[in-house]
Amino acid sequence: MDPMIRMIYASRITQLGSADVHDILNSSRRNNPALGLSGMLVFADGFFLQALEGARSRINALYARILRDTRHADSAILHYREIDKRLFGDWSMGYVLSNEKNRSLFLAYSLDARFSPLTLSGTAAEQLLGELAEHARILGAATATAG
Ligand SMILES: Cc1cc2nc3c(=O)[nH]c(=O)nc-3n(C[C@H](O)[C@H](O)[C@H](O)COP(=O)(O)O)c2cc1C
Repeated sequence: MDPMIRMIYASRITQLGSADVHDILNSSRRNNPALGLSGMLVFADGFFLQALEGARSRINALYARILRDTRHADSAILHYREIDKRLFGDWSMGYVLSNEKNRSLFLAYSLDARFSPLTLSGTAAEQLLGELAEHARILGAATATAG
């Protein structure tokens, strides 16, 4: 049996135009539903922070593919845990940018004025993503695109 997992990792962006973000989201929304995967992708201050939820074997296989993606580097797993319930089940891949409205939330989890997810503890990473998801549910599609 394959338990349900929530995994969170952070990485540094190596090359990124808006077309790249668009491509990543398109791939996620095309592939993740059929795999039973949900999640959230944050893009801020030159870093990605992503949560993935679903069957362990599928998460592991997707992460192996994502690691080979040259649009980012220095990927580090922050959190990997068996779960009973999804936090991001509304989204095949919710997407959050740092903007004026949610900036204080990012900075509340940062050591200085720059968001640096590679230094987050697993617990903090999960809390931040959970808060961003709540924020998105309240504000609607303005901050996280459903899909
Ligand atoms: C930060 C980051 C997150 C990604 N997340 C996903 C994802 O959730 N699902 C996915 O299928 N591909 C994701 N990708 C893209 C994969 O690396 C890969 O390009 C894609 O899965 C290839 O599938 P395609 O040929 O259907 O586009 C991500 C890439 C990056 C850089």
